[in-house]
Amino acid sequence: MLDRIGQMMVRKANQSEQRPVFDKAGEIPRHIAVIMDGNGRWAQKRNLPRIVGHRSGMQTVKEIVKAADSIGVQTLTMYAFSTENWKRPREEVDYLMKLPQEFLSTELEELIERNVRVRMLGDPQGLPPHTVEAMNIAEERTRQNTGLQLNFALNYGGRTEIVKAVQDLARKVQAGMLKPEEIDEAMLTQHLYTRDFPDPDLLIRTSGEIRLSNFMLWQLAYTELWFTDVLWPDFTKELFFEAIAEYQSRARRYGAV
Ligand code: IPE
Ligand code: IPE
Ligand code: MG
Repeated sequence: MLDRIGQMMVRKANQSEQRPVFDKAGEIPRHIAVIMDGNGRWAQKRNLPRIVGHRSGMQTVKEIVKAADSIGVQTLTMYAFSTENWKRPREEVDYLMKLPQEFLSTELEELIERNVRVRMLGDPQGLPPHTVEAMNIAEERTRQNTGLQLNFALNYGGRTEIVKAVQDLARKVQAGMLKPEEIDEAMLTQHLYTRDFPDPDLLIRTSGEIRLSNFMLWQLAYTELWFTDVLWPDFTKELFFEAIAEYQSRARRYGAV
């Protein structure tokens, strides 16, 4: 008996050594960006159509938004649809374009109550009108809110975002409003979709893929990256807190010593 307890204690000690514990009073990342990946595989494993995975993934979004809000994260950016996702079958794209409406129809009132501000990051051009309208209503109705800043990256591409910023700057130079040598990092940052937010402190990607898939290429320069094999519909607030715990245990050096 004593032996068993001893073994358990050793195991526990090892676990807590490997897994940092989330400290609510510690540093909470100001901006967390999430690549929600693995919905399709989650469904395929169950012999279900991919869209069932997307529907299930929407439940995870609800849970993670509440978790982020509950610990005082300032900005949460969720990658919902990339500029490359148009390559998917028509039926799947159509379904994904309905999800913002569906999500907001059940969640918007609660988001308003929670003082959450909702915004879309990405190019509205090319999105179906009903999708843009759903996002516009959410943006409009939460405009005054000062709590969690909740962004959905929709028709978002990191490279397109940079190209658009460069085009804006070039137009200003052409109009004589700006000299080329006045363009610096801060100014380019001010021309990105994310101009109102600090760079992400922490990036989370689910589903075991270790890549950025054209997400926030400029903004992630010094972000802490955290990957898990768990598929997005299986992701939980406990794993979210685990990612933050790991973040809290890291030393961010920004090139210094
Ligand atoms: C992420 O899940 C959701 C979107 C990209 C819209 P996927 O649909 O990419 O799922 P997998 O990667 O195919 O499993
Ligand atoms: C990234 O996931 C885009 C979103 C989560 C919206 P993908 O599933 O599209 O990425 P790849 O194709 O595996 O790189
Ligand atoms: Mg994927």
